[in-house]
Amino acid sequence: MEMTFSIIKPDGVRRNLVGKIFNMIESAGLRIVATKMIHMSRREAEQFYAVHKDRPFFGELCDFMCSGPVVVSALQAPDAVTKYRDLMGATDPKKAAQGTIRAAFAESIGENTVHGSDSKDNAAIELGFFFAGTELVNRAR
Ligand code: CMP
Repeated sequence: MEMTFSIIKPDGVRRNLVGKIFNMIESAGLRIVATKMIHMSRREAEQFYAVHKDRPFFGELCDFMCSGPVVVSALQAPDAVTKYRDLMGATDPKKAAQGTIRAAFAESIGENTVHGSDSKDNAAIELGFFFAGTELVNRAR
């Protein structure tokens, strides 16, 4: 069993898509181990996306991520990182495969509705950024 980290971004929350996206997540066999709605500060967004700090889109990305509430979740499944990345689809929604979250809902590369960890190591770091171990209450045994 593996865990990954998910964000339903401000565009997804603003458009009332949380339930539809959770349905896709659960239907794909991912278990929601913990979840909460938060409104990131600009500083939290900058820290979370620090790996992108030298990219030209960094400012725009941080502005967007703190523009409204997001839903952060811990998801569990065998091969959860790959499973959730496959379900999200390509970063650029124009390139996202049919049946993926981004193909269904994302409007642009910047406002692309969901984030998911890109490796097991980053999943552990990103989960630790938003969740205490005691909050991961729905782990499968
Ligand atoms: P995410 O998986 O959250 O990780 C980094 C984010 O940067 C990515 O999704 C995109 O939303 C965003 N991003 C990547 N490339 C661009 C770009 N060219 N312009 C704006 N945002 C981008």
